[in-house]
Amino acid sequence: MTNNFSRTLVTTALPYANGPVHLGHLAGVYLPADIYVRFKRMQGENIIHIGGSDEHGVPITITADKEGISPQDVVDRYHSRNMDAFERCGISFDHYGRTTSPVHFRTAQEFFSEIERKNIFVKKKERHFYDPEARRYLSDRYVVGTCPVCNNPEANGDQCEQCGTHLSPRELSNPRSKLSDRTPELRETLHWYFPLGRFQDQLKNFVDSHDDDWRANVLNYTRTWLNQGLKDRAITRDLHWGIPVPLDTDEAQGKVLYVWFDAVLGYISFTREWAEKEGNPELWRDYWQSSECRIINFIGKDNVVFHTLMFPAILMAWNEDRVGGKYSLADNVPASEFMNFEGRKFSKSRNYAVYLGEFLDRFPADTLRYSIAMNYPESKDSDFSWSDFQNRTNGELADTLGNFIKRSIDFTNSKFDGELPYACTGEDWDALGIDWADSFEKLDQAYEQFHFREAASLTMQIARLANRFLTESEPWKVMKTDREAAGKTMALSLNLCYTLALAWYPVIPHTSNRIYALLGFDQSLDDAVKKGDVTWHMARSPQLQKGHKLHKKSEILFTKIEDGDIAPELEKIERLLEEVRSQEKGESKEELKIKPEISFDDFQKVDLRVGTVIGCEKVKKADKLLKLLVKVGSENRQVLAGIAQSCSPESIMGKNVILVANLAERKIRGEVSQGMILAVEGSDGALHLADVEGTGVNGKSVQ
Ligand code: 2FM
Ligand code: ZN
Repeated sequence: MTNNFSRTLVTTALPYANGPVHLGHLAGVYLPADIYVRFKRMQGENIIHIGGSDEHGVPITITADKEGISPQDVVDRYHSRNMDAFERCGISFDHYGRTTSPVHFRTAQEFFSEIERKNIFVKKKERHFYDPEARRYLSDRYVVGTCPVCNNPEANGDQCEQCGTHLSPRELSNPRSKLSDRTPELRETLHWYFPLGRFQDQLKNFVDSHDDDWRANVLNYTRTWLNQGLKDRAITRDLHWGIPVPLDTDEAQGKVLYVWFDAVLGYISFTREWAEKEGNPELWRDYWQSSECRIINFIGKDNVVFHTLMFPAILMAWNEDRVGGKYSLADNVPASEFMNFEGRKFSKSRNYAVYLGEFLDRFPADTLRYSIAMNYPESKDSDFSWSDFQNRTNGELADTLGNFIKRSIDFTNSKFDGELPYACTGEDWDALGIDWADSFEKLDQAYEQFHFREAASLTMQIARLANRFLTESEPWKVMKTDREAAGKTMALSLNLCYTLALAWYPVIPHTSNRIYALLGFDQSLDDAVKKGDVTWHMARSPQLQKGHKLHKKSEILFTKIEDGDIAPELEKIERLLEEVRSQEKGESKEELKIKPEISFDDFQKVDLRVGTVIGCEKVKKADKLLKLLVKVGSENRQVLAGIAQSCSPESIMGKNVILVANLAERKIRGEVSQGMILAVEGSDGALHLADVEGTGVNGKSVQ
């Protein structure tokens, strides 16, 4: 980890203002970012956390149409709800913007204009569906029609919900507009494409330069794209909701920037807004246009390539041929895996989720922050369950941390009149049996390397040792015969409380503030950190002097969660699961729509053979097709297969596949196909080849 930066800019993926954020969002992006930012603030670093709402995109207009309100109403509602939930959870943004702001419109349009001026965009004419009655081009989700695979008459233009096939609107038969229910027309329209391939080498160098410090999942996703060769990506849309393409030409009328083109630029716009708020409008440049600033984008795994390829390429295009005003690229993009909920994926569309705001109506933020930190989906998917939440809150937060703090404070208040009775020396501190240097070195490393689960565990370990020290020292007994020895125990315990207040600040800041107040400080810990009165380093040695006065208050830091408290949640889960299961049952019934019966003789006509893939390449201008050369016995067959979006040519070379060997030859996109290979669609929507292991199987019949 390089340390020659004097500033850090942390950004968090902008959630769509199209629904409430749930615990999965919190676990993957916002909590880890906040933990990191608070750790760095406490170290005295110059760090800012920038986030905000993603307020464009088709799902928002669809919600608005469904509810009969305007898209602006939709985003106003969820922007404020989400911002409020984050605040209650202690996610400490320095600025939380929105992509409908004037500053953001200006920034995104400036970027478009600069790249257009440099003639980098590629323009392409295409035929898209248009609804003459609504006078609108129809994006994929606005077209319905009959699915070419299962004949569902209500398939969406992007996917058939009945059979799960990914579609494009033009594959539907009898297409209809969702706006007017009329048959749409195909009209020619011009779109701007960003030529990602033009930046292929630069992007590869950028990614390679982070071989040592980026997470394996980030490198893998990104390299899969790089290895397939980067393609042009459309960055304009025919929509009425979004940032208008800033050109005064006829061809630009009615067009807006693609939501992903504008969203990533939101990080820049919002830093500008933050700088204005700070009264120093040019200050944003110290973060975006300075080699002294480290930029870290916290995201979920579904957003990787937008941040490792698309956004950097946009910045590269801006930077091209510039002397000043160049933007820096991210130093790290810690992408999380997903956190599931009671063993299943969170699903907004199925309402299978716990929303952050609702959770905080029932339980304190820090109990959630702790549970989630301990289940941080760093390198593999993790799970949130109510029983784990209950166990951690009761066994770890209440019985260990809360118990230690309460006993230390209460005993000092009652037996020593709330005053620290002894001056702790370094020797006393070392005799506690905690290796302070080693513990904090490990903690520092865990935070620096985004291992937040480890950081929370290490901190709980310190709390355990402190709790054990107090229990084993038994000051309540010792007090009767040796007041001085009991006083020493309490002075050490209170200093341990101070250490824990600081050490827990990144993960459970509300609790840290409360401990700090119980220890007798008038200023909040937040303010003390902000002013630099308290720093991370102070946690590792005794800071409270003899005679230091407590506030003489008593508090229970964590109330235990009874079975009855989570019973309604468990019932709700059961209900939700029931709904999800019955939806799935319905879907699988539909999916299983078995075709009309065939006789055994009919089946006998199909000749299935094992063949070995000895050649494979993509078919030009056909996104989904691969051209395979399959060796069957001594014969070589050319077979076209619609699997290009799921399998790379390299990945299937050498595989033994199952081939329908006596299918009549046919032509697809001008190429001959001599057979068909078998594949299965997984729950992830990807196609998996039915392959056969073993040698000597080539040419054999499949029984
Ligand atoms: O996936 C999402 O929720 C997007 N709204 C994330 C955008 S991140 C950034 F680019 F703004
Ligand atoms: Zn279908």
